[in-house]
Amino acid sequence: MLPNTDELAEALLDLAVPHQDIDEAVRLSRHITSDTETLRILDTAVTDLVQDMGQLRGTTLDLPGLPDASSATARFFPLYVFVAALPHVWAHHQERGIPDDVSRHTLADVGRCVAWYRRWHGTGGLLIPEWLTLHFHGELYQLGRLQFQRTRIGRRTGASIAAAGLPQTPGEPALAVHVPDFMGPLTPQAVERSLALAQAFFTRHYPEETYSVATCASWLLDPQLKRRLPKDSNIVRFQERFHPVRPLTAPEAPEHLEDMEPVRFVFGTTDVPLDRLPRRTVLERAVLDHLREGGHWHVGRGWLEL
Ligand SMILES: CC(C)(COP(=O)(O)OP(=O)(O)OC[C@H]1O[C@@H](n2cnc3c(N)ncnc32)[C@H](O)[C@@H]1OP(=O)(O)O)[C@@H](O)C(=O)NCCC(=O)NCCS
Repeated sequence: MLPNTDELAEALLDLAVPHQDIDEAVRLSRHITSDTETLRILDTAVTDLVQDMGQLRGTTLDLPGLPDASSATARFFPLYVFVAALPHVWAHHQERGIPDDVSRHTLADVGRCVAWYRRWHGTGGLLIPEWLTLHFHGELYQLGRLQFQRTRIGRRTGASIAAAGLPQTPGEPALAVHVPDFMGPLTPQAVERSLALAQAFFTRHYPEETYSVATCASWLLDPQLKRRLPKDSNIVRFQERFHPVRPLTAPEAPEHLEDMEPVRFVFGTTDVPLDRLPRRTVLERAVLDHLREGGHWHVGRGWLEL
């Protein structure tokens, strides 16, 4: 059930929803509470979202949406689903003894998805709601600069780990590392601190799962960035922490498939022609020049021992 408008505004503030979007989200919420069919869709979405709370689904969940997907209410609909699911995720956090600040920083990713939507589309809404289904299922936590997702070692990562002579095998627990944006630079000190926080956090709050490996799959790990960024840049230093995992090659993965990944994260849009995007920083220039010269970008994969 959705809270009333006063409580909804407070919940949105706690979820770090940008101030400029709160009024509209609160105003449109009456279309949810005044219509039985919409309320039924909301209830179904919340039930799906919180089912088997805390267990590993291992994947994000597609939430049901409203029939008229283009309406302003539909743009905000996932936001209402997450607010309505808050008591369930808080109960899980409480059961696991998760500190309030970790809970707050983790769920504040909701506001980041609202900020992304505005950056991309210029209006209010919530981008990639499926991403947040991990946070609202006890599968992902923000600890310092990084986010950590409870997951399992995959086949290719397992092969790389075995080649390095370590005992961990596919199917064993691993923490997938994610790098949220709007959080300042990715300094080596911030990464060290996050990794240390993660080890302590999961040992304490998920003691039945032993995490000795962290994995990462990101455009930030594309080794080609090394040729285009200064050696001491944070991105290059972040890459260097990880043992590389063999990339997929054509025909498994067509070359151009991941070209837009860095564009999406660096420029916040893939809708603007590349020659109209800004070239202020060394990374902006690197991303654009590489594509202009006929190169392709890839999602790099790697792992490190915790
Ligand atoms: C990851 C991130 C924090 C790294 O930023 P950083 O710590 O400043 O990285 P570096 O030190 O390697 O930066 C090197 C250069 O790239 C620039 N740069 C880094 N990230 C940038 C970004 N998102 N947009 C524009 N320029 C960026 C820096 O300003 C610097 O250039 P300059 O010397 O000309 O100023 C940043 O890129 C970011 O927030 N990205 C979005 C999140 C993301 O992509 N996550 C991974 C999702 S899979």
